[in-house]
Amino acid sequence: MKTKTAAEIASLAKSARMLRDILTQVCAAVKPGVTGIEVAKLAEELIKKAGGVSAFIGYGKPPYPSALCVSVNSCVVHGIPSAYRFRSGDIVGLDIGMIYEGLYTDMARTVAIEPISEKERLLVATAKEALDKALQTIAPGVTTGDIGFIVQSFVESRGFGVVRDLAGHGVGHRLHEPPEVPNFGGRGDGTELVPGMVLALEPMITLGGWEVETAPDRWSVMTVDGSKAAHFEDMVVVTDAGHTILTR
Ligand code: MF3
Ligand code: CO
Repeated sequence: MKTKTAAEIASLAKSARMLRDILTQVCAAVKPGVTGIEVAKLAEELIKKAGGVSAFIGYGKPPYPSALCVSVNSCVVHGIPSAYRFRSGDIVGLDIGMIYEGLYTDMARTVAIEPISEKERLLVATAKEALDKALQTIAPGVTTGDIGFIVQSFVESRGFGVVRDLAGHGVGHRLHEPPEVPNFGGRGDGTELVPGMVLALEPMITLGGWEVETAPDRWSVMTVDGSKAAHFEDMVVVTDAGHTILTR
């Protein structure tokens, strides 16, 4: 990955804050009876209103069809918004990306539609906490394996599964750039972080095992055991002093 210039980091910081505000509004729209298609439409409108372009529409093969990933229950990530109406007990992952001033941002949140069980509440909280712990350790000289180790050891200590087939990533000039940032691994493994790197960290965890499979729609990543999953994603820039979280 090419590190980002000060000007690029300033632009990414601005667009990441805009994306955070957009995703906050999108999350607030998730209620019983509402569909994924409806919240995705809101996401697309808010991106346009902010002067940005969706980073997801047309991405990949087959081209991703929406501005928002809506991943319900046993769908871990990359769920395609559908006409399914959310109901109480659903755990809904919302992932959004924007191109602004030529640079890419990417973030995700998981919202639970109450009531959910204590165990499910702990699942969502643990995904968030794992991301918090990973973000707090970011500094020059830390490796991608250090990050994976922190996420995996914390999540598995709570008895949850850590998805291995997908990872965090560099972001900025493109949606996905090196280095990969796995959510499992060994201390000291992988790539050393240097100032000017911009990363998207995104733990994906489950109530059961780590195994996932792609649905026939060729996008939705589902748990093999049918267990529910949670996913949070934030962008962070490595600085001389440590890091700055861009999406909060
Ligand atoms: N945060 C997701 C990721 O890094 C974004 C997926 S974009 C999509 O995998 F277009 F592929 F859905
Ligand atoms: Co991402």
